[in-house]
Amino acid sequence: MPILTRPENMQRITTVELAEKFIAEQVADVRAQVGNKKVLLALSGGVDSSVVAALLIRAIGKQLVCVHVNHGLLRKGEPEQVIRVFKGEMDANLIYVDAVDRFLTKLAGVSDPETKRRIIGNEFIEVFAEEARRLEGVEFLAQGTIWPDILESEHGIKAHHNAGGLPEDLKFELVEPVRILFKDEVRVVGKALGLPDNMVYRQPFPGPGLGVRCLGAITRDRLEAVRESDAILREEFASAGLAGKVWQYFTIVPDFRSVGVKDGRRCDEWPVILRAVNTRDAMTATVEDLPFALLQRITDRITHEVRGVNRVLYDLTPKPTGTIEWE
Ligand code: XMP
Repeated sequence: MPILTRPENMQRITTVELAEKFIAEQVADVRAQVGNKKVLLALSGGVDSSVVAALLIRAIGKQLVCVHVNHGLLRKGEPEQVIRVFKGEMDANLIYVDAVDRFLTKLAGVSDPETKRRIIGNEFIEVFAEEARRLEGVEFLAQGTIWPDILESEHGIKAHHNAGGLPEDLKFELVEPVRILFKDEVRVVGKALGLPDNMVYRQPFPGPGLGVRCLGAITRDRLEAVRESDAILREEFASAGLAGKVWQYFTIVPDFRSVGVKDGRRCDEWPVILRAVNTRDAMTATVEDLPFALLQRITDRITHEVRGVNRVLYDLTPKPTGTIEWE
């Protein structure tokens, strides 16, 4: 049986050697647990699910079936990277589901943030369950549960994302190979498994993705403005050496326009709001003191390269009084 509780005296995994030892133990445990049966995994491309995927590929190869659901709310280049890394480099058994139209149709006209979150969460479970029903011989469900998820659900802070969400007819035994690890340890293990740095050292990204950064009712054109401006912000942070130093940084596009001028003509277009914050636990946050020249460069690029945008604003609000996300 796999270890379910983090031993009191467990050494923090900080080196490749310690990671390799952990990986070898988990590989043996997973093989003993699942035998020759199939294991299903929802692979979002986030740190935890990516590390679980890489670990299980090492342990059981093609017995792992990864399902990557593209709900249209991922960052630019993310679905492509999941396919490249897992199918291309690791030869994974990967099912890619293009559910973009499905999600955006369900979300059309919905402006309440919590309703948006609920639709995205429910639709995700539905798409994943449909894929699961199509497969034969799957008895296990792998999850990227980590130790803080267990602690927080024990203390009633949040319900950790477990199989509870799946419909009644889908009963799986759980495989949770990084369950006893802290986040920093998951990253060390991911690195040892050969995952790329921009996957292992990613900033936190909310489950509902860009959906809560395209404020109000999501439209395809405004969602593209969020995705393109986010890609520019990330590029500029990387060039400035800020990627991995600033805790979370992203863009928001509100659902109002203002007057501007482009090519000598009046234009009514959206603003892009920049957010860059530092925090320890996301309960409070401070705003990154960005160099003015960098802000000017980002503004110049976004207003010239992103369709439908004529202004850029920097959100100077710490948490409290603002939250990190805008909805
Ligand atoms: P707030 O906006 O509450 O965000 O200050 C704190 C942290 O939580 C992330 N966040 C979410 N993560 N689902 C998630 O998985 C959500 O619905 C969600 N809302 C906010 C946010 O990105 C920040 O890191």
